[in-house]
Amino acid sequence: MNRSDTPRPRHRFLVTAGPTREPVDAIRFFTNRSSGRMGYSLARACVERGHDVTLITGPVAIKPPVGVEVVFVETALEMCAAVLDRVEGYNGLLMCAAVADYRPAEPHPGKRSKTPGDWILRLVRNPDILLEVDRLGYKGLRLGFAAEFGDPRERGRQKLEEKHLDLLAANDISRDELGMGAIQNAIWLMDRWGGSVAIGPADKGVVAMELVEHLEDAILRLAQDPK
Ligand code: C5P
Repeated sequence: MNRSDTPRPRHRFLVTAGPTREPVDAIRFFTNRSSGRMGYSLARACVERGHDVTLITGPVAIKPPVGVEVVFVETALEMCAAVLDRVEGYNGLLMCAAVADYRPAEPHPGKRSKTPGDWILRLVRNPDILLEVDRLGYKGLRLGFAAEFGDPRERGRQKLEEKHLDLLAANDISRDELGMGAIQNAIWLMDRWGGSVAIGPADKGVVAMELVEHLEDAILRLAQDPK
């Protein structure tokens, strides 16, 4: 029997996508250029391969794929709570979201009106969701993304180790036509066993399909060689 005849195990994936919004006052916020396309494509590809998917998404302009359970959040703190509440029930956490690293320390209640002079804001660190998941002792597969300016491989490998990830998809965001906010992506997929493979440049849907096959292989490998 060749590999394609073997029934594929069905997994449960928790996928995060999109940017977060960090309120400055009741009507203003900080955010970033993430369109949600990579995470949404990944969620769709997982469903197409027969897996169950919950998508935790920040605010984006695209529609969630059919067949996916969707949880809408706004801030990094909300996304963190949504992930920590659920992650134990999943075989894999795919952290595609561009989570804000900082939030305004004291969002102004209501709308802040103009005053003469400057408005100086203090930003505080948001929790790193992947590190919080690590602290929980989560045993499932963890995929992170790293958007870097220039060749992302060295910094990517460092992030894989710092965040105790099993897989890391690193991409160069200095090219406008690829990566954050773009239609296409090109990634280096690195794994905990020292391997790395280039995927793309291609539409994010194509990159996602290839990525899911690597996720399935990595889950099998983790079962044989647990952390
Ligand atoms: O350190 P950096 O933000 O580049 O790491 C990116 C990876 O970490 C992504 O997978 C992102 O979803 C995740 N992340 C996180 N919590 C944060 C910031 C990023 O889990 N506060």
